[in-house]
Amino acid sequence: MTDESDTEVEWPKNEEKFYYDAKEYWSQVPTTVDGMLGGFEKISPTDINGSKAFLRPFLKIGKGKTNTHRALDCGAGIGRITKRLLLPMFDTVDMVELNQKFLDSAKSFIGQDVSRVDRFICSGLQDFTPEAGRYDLIWTQWVLGHLTEDHLVAFFKRCKAGLATDGLIVVKENVSGSEKTEFDELDSSFTRCKESYTTAMRKAGLTILKEERQKGFPKGLYSVFMFALK
Ligand SMILES: C[S@@+](CC[C@H](N)C(=O)[O-])C[C@H]1O[C@@H](n2cnc3c(N)ncnc32)[C@H](O)[C@@H]1O
Repeated sequence: MTDESDTEVEWPKNEEKFYYDAKEYWSQVPTTVDGMLGGFEKISPTDINGSKAFLRPFLKIGKGKTNTHRALDCGAGIGRITKRLLLPMFDTVDMVELNQKFLDSAKSFIGQDVSRVDRFICSGLQDFTPEAGRYDLIWTQWVLGHLTEDHLVAFFKRCKAGLATDGLIVVKENVSGSEKTEFDELDSSFTRCKESYTTAMRKAGLTILKEERQKGFPKGLYSVFMFALK
């Protein structure tokens, strides 16, 4: 999460190892909000409030066009976003997450509203296809660095097909300060520069409706950008 590296990315030559190492890393992480945020639990309220303010104007409840029937939380972890952002706004939420232990913890972490979580899907996003036309919102946050370039574009394309009428994709990710993509060996993830994301979005045929930098995070962390896409 911290912006300490100024080394240029070395793209992993071994895709299998790239995904294996990330899975191993996350399997050791505690099933807590602090674990989800790499020791930065304190930024969670600022993050959620920034997301709400960004999302609301697109939704019918905020005078926008997007329905609030069903959302998908991608790389959902224990359900921090499902619980605090999506369930308060959407009738039902599906969660897709690589590690079963996080999905298991989600049931107690979310509490009684977990009855409105419809599907708990244990899968890597690289292998996951959202059901066609199912989602008013597909939310992806702090997970896309775990996909290779080709898988990122392909995933965006599948998300586009997963949207209902007037549906929306939101991407909220760290971006590197330079024009370079960085690789973190610790959790086997990329931190892409903003242009790398926007290029992948365009390659997937997505239109960027709005982009905004999250404000109020402590100094020393990567910049975080939100993109609304259709
Ligand atoms: C930094 S945490 C963020 C969790 C959640 N999005 C949040 O903001 O609270 C990253 C999550 O992505 C999951 N993850 C890592 N690689 C993944 C992949 N290839 N597909 C789906 N989930 C993945 C991890 O298990 C972990 O739960």
